[in-house]
Amino acid sequence: MLEIVDKTHDESRQGEAVAPQAGDTRVYTKKFYIESYGCQMNFNDSEIVASILNKEGFGATRNAEEADLVLLNTCSIREKAEQTVRKRLTEFKKTKKNRPGFLVGVLGCMAERLKAQFLEQEKLVDLVVGPDAYRTLPALIEEAETGQKAINVLLSREETYADISPVRLNSNGVTAFVSIMRGCNNMCAFCVVPFTRGRERSRDQYSIIAEATDLFENGYREVTLLGQNVDSYYFVDEQKDETVTFAGLLEKVAAISPLLRIRFSTSHPKDITDDVLFAMARHENICNYIHLPVQSGSTRILQLMNRTYTREWYMKKVDRIREILPDCGLSTDIITGFCTETEEDHQDTLAVMEYAHYDLAYMFAYSERPGTLAARRYQDDVPEEVKKRRLAEVVALHRRHTLESMQQDVGKTFSVLIEGVSKRSEDDLFGRNDQNKVVVFPKGNHQKGTYVKVKIEACTAGTLLGKVVD
Ligand code: SAH
Ligand code: SF4
Ligand code: F3S
Repeated sequence: MLEIVDKTHDESRQGEAVAPQAGDTRVYTKKFYIESYGCQMNFNDSEIVASILNKEGFGATRNAEEADLVLLNTCSIREKAEQTVRKRLTEFKKTKKNRPGFLVGVLGCMAERLKAQFLEQEKLVDLVVGPDAYRTLPALIEEAETGQKAINVLLSREETYADISPVRLNSNGVTAFVSIMRGCNNMCAFCVVPFTRGRERSRDQYSIIAEATDLFENGYREVTLLGQNVDSYYFVDEQKDETVTFAGLLEKVAAISPLLRIRFSTSHPKDITDDVLFAMARHENICNYIHLPVQSGSTRILQLMNRTYTREWYMKKVDRIREILPDCGLSTDIITGFCTETEEDHQDTLAVMEYAHYDLAYMFAYSERPGTLAARRYQDDVPEEVKKRRLAEVVALHRRHTLESMQQDVGKTFSVLIEGVSKRSEDDLFGRNDQNKVVVFPKGNHQKGTYVKVKIEACTAGTLLGKVVD
C-alpha cells in the first residue's frame, strides 16, 4: 500500500483519529474526539463536522480519554467495516459506565443504514446522525446532554454543506479534499452507498472555486475533488444561463494557479467524457491520473452488477485515455466472487487487468449488503473460500503489474510535490508525481509544499526512490 492513498474508500485508513488544527488559538469549553472510517468523503465530512462543533465551543482532541464527546464517522461498504465500528462502540460503552456526562455518537453511513438500532435495541450510543444531518448536531448534542436519545437520519436532496468551511484536521498543509457533490444516483447492485448517502446533488461551482482558492492562498498546493461519481457533476447557474459539467469545473479550478495541482476521484467508466480527458491534456496542473473502477472483467457479471458498460466498452475507455493522455496513471477497484461468478468470469477479470495494466488497484471479496439490489435479487452463492482464492489471484497479478509499472519509471524524471518527511527516514522527504506514485528522496534544503524534479534511481513495490536534479 502506498504511503499516501488517493481514493474515496480506502479502509486502510480506518479509525484514524483527528488532531486539532494547527494554529487554532480559540478557547473551547468542551472537547470532542472524532474517528473516521471509510472513504475520503467521510474524512472530508468529519472536517465539516469539526467546523460545526468548533462554532459550538467544542475543540478537537486526539485523546478520547479527555473528550466530552466521542464521534465515530462510520462506513457500511463491507461487513468488515461495520464490524470494526461495532467493536469500537463496545469499547466506548465501557468507558461510559465510569464517566457520567460522556457522550458517544455515531455519524455517517452506518448511522444512516441502521437508524435507531444503535440507540434503541443495542443501546450503544447517545447520538445517531446521518450524513445529511450534520447541521443539526448542536441541537442533537443538547438533547443528548439532557439524557434523551438524539437522532436525525433524514436524507436531503439539496444539502451540500457548500457554505461550511471544513476545518482541516490532520492536515499536512499541502494537500486537501474538496467535496464537489454528494450522494449517488447509480444503482450498482452490490453497493450500499445510494441508500446511505441518498440522491446525487452537485455543489455550486462558486463555493468550490472559493474553497480551492482559499486553500491555495493558505499554502496548499493540491486539491482532490471528491464525489462518488465526479463525471456526473452538473451545475446550472440560472442567472448566468450557464451549465457547468465536470470538465468545465476542472478547467475553472485549474485556472486558480498553475502551482495548484488538481486530482479527482472517483470516475465511473460510463460517464468519463473526452472533454474531461482533453481538459486534463490542456492543463498541466490537472494530474494525469484516473481512478476508473472496473469491478469485473466479465460482461455478464457487469450486467448483473448494473454497471451499465461492457468489458469492451471499458477497454475502449482505457484505449481512449492512453490515446489522449499517454502517460496517464490508471487505477481501479475489483470485486471477486460476486453472485454467480464462474471461473470463466474470473478469468475475464484477470484478462482485463492484463489489458489495462493498472498502476494501483483496490481489491475486495464480495460482501453482501442488506437492502442492496444484489441482496434482494440474487443469491450470494460463491463460497467464501472461492471468493478468497480468486481475490488472492487478482492480488498476485496486481502485485506483478504494480512492480512492473514502478520499474518502468526507473531512469525517468518527474515533477514531485513535496508533502513531508518520509515515514521511514528523517533524512528523506516524500511527495507524489503526477501519476500519483509516491517518490522518496534525500532531504537537502527542500521544503514541504514546493515542487522539485526528481530522477528515479530505484523502486520498491510501492515507492519510487530518487534524487533531486536541477
Ligand atoms: N463510487 C465509487 C466507489 C464507491 S465504493 C465507484 O463507483 O467506483 C468503493 C469500492 O468498494 C467500489 O468500487 C467496490 O469495488 C467496492 N465495494 C462496494 N460495495 C462492495 C461490496 N458489497 N462488497 C465488496 N466490495 C464492494
Ligand atoms: Fe456505489 Fe456504484 Fe454509486 Fe459507486 S457508482 S457509489 S459503486 S452505486
Ligand atoms: Fe464512503 Fe463507506 Fe459511506 S465508502 S460513502 S463511508 S459506505
